[in-house]
Formats: sequence, C-alpha cells, structure tokens
Amino acid sequence: MPTTILVISGSTRQARNGRGISDAIALGLSEDPEVVVDLADLAEISIPLDAEPWHPRMGQYQQPSTKAWSQRVTAADAVVLVTPEYNGGYPAGVKNALDALANEWVGKPFAVASYGARGGARAFKQISEIITNLGAELVEVEPGLRLSFGQGDMNEQMRLVDPAGFVARYSDAVRATGAELVARAGAESVSDLA
Ligand SMILES: Cc1cc2nc3c(=O)[nH]c(=O)nc-3n(C[C@H](O)[C@H](O)[C@H](O)COP(=O)(O)O)c2cc1C
Repeated sequence: MPTTILVISGSTRQARNGRGISDAIALGLSEDPEVVVDLADLAEISIPLDAEPWHPRMGQYQQPSTKAWSQRVTAADAVVLVTPEYNGGYPAGVKNALDALANEWVGKPFAVASYGARGGARAFKQISEIITNLGAELVEVEPGLRLSFGQGDMNEQMRLVDPAGFVARYSDAVRATGAELVARAGAESVSDLA
C-alpha cells in the first residue's frame, strides 16, 4: 500500500512563494514510488474562520468546506506542512486550518517545512508546539527542513526567481523526511492491526 502524504501549502497570499516551494517539495516526495502526494493549497480550499457551531472534537461539521477538509486529512497517512514565517511566527491561515479539525490530527506523522530569511525557524518552533498539542506526531529528521532565502533568490517583487532550484538545495532533507514519514505511517498501521 502506498503512503499518502498530504502536503499543506500554508501561505494564502495572492503573490505567494509558498505554492512554488510546496510544488517542488511535493515533487521531491513523490520521487519515492511508495508515496502518493495530495497537495492542499490553503489559498485554494478556503476554510472560513470559526464557521462551525460545535467544538471540532465532536466531529459534527456543518460546513461543506470543513467536511471536505476533514475527509482529506483523514485520508492522509502523514502530513508535510509548508509554512512561511510572518513577523516571527506562523501565518493565521495555517492556525485556522489546524484549529478547524481535532481528532483527524491525532497520531498523524507530521513534518514541517518552514521557510524565510533564517529558514522560518521561529515559525517552526511555534508550530511544532501546536502540532504536539493537537496530538499529532512531530517528525523532524535532522537538520530539518528550514529553507533559508539567500542573496539573489528573490527578484525586486520579492518573488522567488527559481522555486524548484531553491528547494533542490534541500533535496536530501526532503527525501529523508519522506522516508521517515513512510516508516512512521507504516509503523502506525501495523500497531493499528495489533
Ligand atoms: C506579512 C509578512 C511578514 C513577514 N515576516 C517575516 C519574518 O518574520 N521572517 C522572515 O524570515 N520573513 C518574513 N517575511 C518575508 C517572507 O519570508 C517572504 O515574503 C515569503 O515569500 C513569504 O512567504 P509567501 O510568499 O509564501 O507568503 C514576511 C513577509 C510577509 C508578507
């Protein structure tokens, strides 16, 4: 059985670099024949803020968008969240997408690819605490996926000149993270059977 990895592209800005980064990470992960990637771009799926009347732990979703999001996360064996760093933290849209669900995250192997001037390390630190709090299983293969912008990476509009080339610098880390997620997801399904 292949491992389905949900790649969540966390930036919702119209002129986001995150989509190109997420596409390249998804491509890198899918080089493993054991992996099937489902790419969820939060700018495209749009999860309204606080649209549900009940606590997400009850799973009684009213909105079609929440139901679809729940099904998508449930169908995934593992997650890679691709997140920018904004003002020293993670973006609001990422928090909203996480808070919209509850049980769906529990026990899910969950890796984070952060990006920014210093690899988005502050966003990663914050989001890793939230992921653990949700009951997901944080997967971090040293040195981690901290993608750092360098000189010449951006044009004058602050768009990445070559997103695929930028991510290619981290191809070993992408591969190692994918392999670890496959291993963890396999271990979980074995323990599910026990
Ligand atoms: C509102 C805002 C705040 C930002 N704050 C940070 C920051 O704290 N650290 C950092 O490294 N880059 C910061 N940046 C620069 C981003 O790393 C860069 O714009 C990146 O492309 C944002 O990801 P996105 O294009 O996918 O939205 C910020 C950008 C925006 C738009």
